[in-house]
Amino acid sequence: MAEQSVRWGILATGGIAAAFTADLIDLSDAEVVAVASRSQASADAFAERFGIPRAYGDWDALAQDGDIDVVYVATPHSAHRAAAGLCLEAGHNVLCEKAFTLNSREAEELVALARARGSFLMEAMWMYCNPLVRRLKALVDDGAIGEVRHVQADFGLAGPFPPAHRLRDPAQGGGALLDLGVYPVSFAQLLLGEPSDVTARAALSAEGVDLQTGALLSWDSGALASVHCSIVGGTATSASVTGSGGRIDVPNGFFFPDRFVLHRDGRDPEEFTADPADGPRGSLRHEAAEVMRALRAGETESALVPLDGTLAVMRTLDAIRDRIGVRYPGEAPEEGAGDDLAPALTPA
Ligand SMILES: NC(=O)c1ccc[n+]([C@@H]2O[C@H](COP(=O)([O-])OP(=O)(O)OC[C@H]3O[C@@H](n4cnc5c(N)ncnc54)[C@H](OP(=O)(O)O)[C@@H]3O)[C@@H](O)[C@H]2O)c1
Repeated sequence: MAEQSVRWGILATGGIAAAFTADLIDLSDAEVVAVASRSQASADAFAERFGIPRAYGDWDALAQDGDIDVVYVATPHSAHRAAAGLCLEAGHNVLCEKAFTLNSREAEELVALARARGSFLMEAMWMYCNPLVRRLKALVDDGAIGEVRHVQADFGLAGPFPPAHRLRDPAQGGGALLDLGVYPVSFAQLLLGEPSDVTARAALSAEGVDLQTGALLSWDSGALASVHCSIVGGTATSASVTGSGGRIDVPNGFFFPDRFVLHRDGRDPEEFTADPADGPRGSLRHEAAEVMRALRAGETESALVPLDGTLAVMRTLDAIRDRIGVRYPGEAPEEGAGDDLAPALTPA
């Protein structure tokens, strides 16, 4: 695949599928060759909109298409296991949207499938591919702020989201945590790894999904992370990393920053800004580039978005759901909410 375009198949035709396809089309070394939807009409409309040659009205046809290098799965999280699994079974490489799956059991199944087949699999955690986030991690790893003591990160949207919206629908893995909370949790774990303990509280909707969740993650080193997510309030969406020798503040949009400020004890603040050559803010091109780089290198996992990291994040999301009492339809009792539930703060 060295010098050729990477041929992409798109599975689902919703909001992020359109955004990612638009960014792929801008890349000279990517080609979008097929799209699949649950309906032929939606696949046809999407194909016409983006000039995609092949449009399928079911996922199987895409899975059986042999002229594809990688499939991008962009369904709601509740369907990630089925859609990504179908494509992996058929021998495809897969980039799968976040949250990677509903729970860590499903995530482990997908990872085992990909590893057994020697196929590439990556969670679409585009934050990990962002050049400024990579810079921040390198600074922290190099000891710029000393030993990390605390991470704060939040992601809340004001909505309002009507009950029929996927974010409110338990059958689609709704709630703030899997859709938005995955970013603060992934940010904390990028810097500190998997926590040793998790506590959490939430306000739940009448449908039983979390409207907002606050979690405290802790590590044996003594480090803590305070993470918050919401679908009922627009938060600052900022992050801050405090260490024994300083602090890094990432303002609004910490998961796709255009700048951050490094405060080293005893020194003037240093501002780091995005390189205009890295493209427009919010572009998904860095994630696409990482997939294509890995495929050309013959790698089955991305070092930037490692599968073990994805599994560790899914375990934390499971633990938070256990504490707040959210279980999705079809989940076994030991998945998601346990029997010893902490009560929700404000039933809604
Ligand atoms: N990376 C990011 O920045 C980002 C941003 C937003 C969302 N996401 C993630 O991307 C995924 C999709 O989010 P979205 O905002 O694009 O949602 P969306 O606009 O609702 O689109 C989801 C698409 O999936 C298909 N679908 C809907 N219900 C389904 C079901 N029950 N089973 C299977 N397929 C179904 C539909 O496509 P068809 O009608 O064609 O089947 C629908 O258009 C979520 O996991 C979300 O967390 C990521």
